Amino acid sequence: MRPSASLRTSVILVVALASASHVSAQTFQRLGTCPTLGCVFPPDQTDFLAGQLFDIRLEVHAPVNGTEAFNGGVVNEQFSFCVQRGREACQDVTKFFKIKDSVLEKWNFTYYEDLFAKDAGTPVLVNVASKAYRALSLTKSGPYAAKLTYNGRSTTIANWFVREPATRRKAKNVLLFIGDGMTQSMITAARLIAHKSVNGKYQSLMQMDQMDNLGHQMTHSVDSFITDSANSATALYTGKKSTVNALNVYADSSKNSLDDPKVETIAELFRRRIGGALGIVSTAFIADATPAALCAHTRDRGQYAAVVTEYLNNATTVNATFAWPTSCQGPDVIFGGGAEQFIAGPGSPGGVDYYKAFQAQGYNVVNSKTQLLAAGNKAKTLGIFSVSNMAKWIDRNVLKDNLKNQKNSPTGDGTDAVDQPGLKEMTLKAIDILQSRSKKNQGWFMMSEAASIDKMMHVLDYDRALGELLELDDTIRESIAHLKKIGEYENTLIVVTADHGHGFDVFGGADTKYLAAQTDDRKKRAAIGVYTNSGLSGYTVAEGSLPNNNTIVYGAEGPNFPVQWNPRYAFAAGFGANPDHRETYALNTNGPRVPAVNSANGVVVNPTDNVDGFNVGGTIGVDETQGVHSLQDVSVFANGPGSEAFRGVYNSVDIFFKIADALALGRTS
Ligand SMILES: *[C@@H]1O[C@H](CO)[C@@H](O)[C@H](O)[C@H]1NC(C)=O
Ligand SMILES: *[C@@H]1O[C@H](CO)[C@@H](O)[C@H](O)[C@H]1NC(C)=O
Ligand SMILES: *[C@@H]1O[C@H](CO)[C@@H](O)[C@H](O)[C@H]1NC(C)=O
Ligand SMILES: *[C@@H]1O[C@H](CO)[C@@H](O)[C@H](O)[C@H]1NC(C)=O
Ligand SMILES: *[C@@H]1O[C@H](CO)[C@@H](O)[C@H](O)[C@H]1NC(C)=O
Repeated sequence: MRPSASLRTSVILVVALASASHVSAQTFQRLGTCPTLGCVFPPDQTDFLAGQLFDIRLEVHAPVNGTEAFNGGVVNEQFSFCVQRGREACQDVTKFFKIKDSVLEKWNFTYYEDLFAKDAGTPVLVNVASKAYRALSLTKSGPYAAKLTYNGRSTTIANWFVREPATRRKAKNVLLFIGDGMTQSMITAARLIAHKSVNGKYQSLMQMDQMDNLGHQMTHSVDSFITDSANSATALYTGKKSTVNALNVYADSSKNSLDDPKVETIAELFRRRIGGALGIVSTAFIADATPAALCAHTRDRGQYAAVVTEYLNNATTVNATFAWPTSCQGPDVIFGGGAEQFIAGPGSPGGVDYYKAFQAQGYNVVNSKTQLLAAGNKAKTLGIFSVSNMAKWIDRNVLKDNLKNQKNSPTGDGTDAVDQPGLKEMTLKAIDILQSRSKKNQGWFMMSEAASIDKMMHVLDYDRALGELLELDDTIRESIAHLKKIGEYENTLIVVTADHGHGFDVFGGADTKYLAAQTDDRKKRAAIGVYTNSGLSGYTVAEGSLPNNNTIVYGAEGPNFPVQWNPRYAFAAGFGANPDHRETYALNTNGPRVPAVNSANGVVVNPTDNVDGFNVGGTIGVDETQGVHSLQDVSVFANGPGSEAFRGVYNSVDIFFKIADALALGRTS
């Protein structure tokens, strides 16, 4: 049980209001998580699972110039830090955690106070004194206050809360599906094109529509209200809000992006506490943020080599200076794209053949759908199926010629990766391997990500994005059926959610033939039918097989994919945040769309994209070639033991606590 908000604040120290002027900034911040000159990480409002490991980082800032200039930029190194539980006395951090004091670190950094300062090229210079304390934990539940005293009498107080952990494990297995960037409007659009409707009434439903419990989660991050996939995954997997680009750390101001204060992930906890089997599946390159966030710790999600090093080893092997005594211990299953981190070369750790590094630690390595389906279930398995992100459902199933001339074979031999599995094949195989590798009652945890819902929404390729969403839904349906077949359905908590949204929606129908036939932009827009003229879905629903007779096995609800992806009467859709581009509403038959390109004057319409379309003016900065994420809450669907907890409206970080409680990962001693 969580105490009410009022109970939680009542036992907490009264915050001194004498803190330094609060500079609220938008485009640039001195350090987002630190509005004053004294910084405490984990910051105020952090909740912990009992026993979850975390680092503490303290920073004292002395800006040399700018509106916050302090003491001529001379940083006062005499700061102290104490921690108190409830109303107990505040004890020095070394006494409270029974640890040695750490060494004082010093550095400096610069930042722009606003866009005027950037135009003028006058950054503020900030000197910093800092200490870090590593791999600590709090086991007793209830409120804590952590107090940094700096510059004489200034204080920064972080109110922390350790949630009462569940004592009884409800779920043996957890299957977490993430539709990256997936919003309810996308689910509605996918349902419209793939499920038959008669007089406004659907004859079949999405699998997501049929889940037992529905909730909404709020995705804001610690220092910005729009998230990226790194900090949103950090929230989902650690229960901690973080900063854009950060994976399982709080972003500090130091130069080294690997020394930032870490937090333990659900995957690390599951390994350390239970020792169950762990699976990571994604249609993205496997070092991308959503899969990476299960195991990696860095402020910079772009450190791909460090990410795959942490899959295989741990954060200590990435930089032994910041020892971290927990890890994913080599997941049992890793399936996705991203061969560039495994083929010996500039992208792989140390430039070595990283397939071999995995093989040396007992992994079976597979590089195609054929090899995947033929693989045994006993060994740890690394499946890398393409360079970069994997091919999209539409290209794998409908427009197969688009797989050619990509030179993206995961072996690095320059051929095309034409034999790629989909999310469904990867997820079903992963279930079998995890099931065979999990010992007795330890169970398994898997994250399966439909990554290219997001990637295709970014490039305004709505058809491909919805194809990915329908593949996710098909994967969920088949996974449920498979779990029932192997007798694990009743033991498995299934959670389906997203990490953030995109401002996508459908607002009508479009006569693509009429639109293409007009030469004037304003006349082209007459092809868009709104309200009653939106008409009915032109995307015919299959009665049992796809036109190219491939071997997709459909669920009981029917085919669940459209047969006609490029109807004359297509849906007309738009985006809340887009670069300059042209719109035709027709399927991009040559592969994923590129709506806008860089030019000497910034980003402009791609001259080869949608040549028959009309121009849509950009709504974001002219350095953005793609649409960007949006604010909205995202849905959470859940079935199975512990799934009732996912009802209602809550924060992204609560997903971590709900899953941790279903697995009883918290420990009070
Ligand atoms: C910033 O710190 C570095 C060493 O940490 C030092 O060499 C450099 O002079 C400092 N820069 C400024 C502008 O003070
Ligand atoms: C602050 O000082 C630095 C170093 O002297 C200088 O480069 C910068 O332009 C100054 N910024 C402002 C806002 O005055
Ligand atoms: C590890 O961190 C220390 C301290 O920041 C740094 O000096 C060292 O270069 C780092 N090593 C690597 C391999 O990044
Ligand atoms: C980290 O990895 C190294 C190298 O594989 C290993 O020796 C060490 O035991 C690992 N530590 C943890 C905490 O997993
Ligand atoms: C595809 O399947 C349909 C229905 O079973 C059949 O009529 C058609 O001949 C098949 N097409 C090909 C190319 O095999």
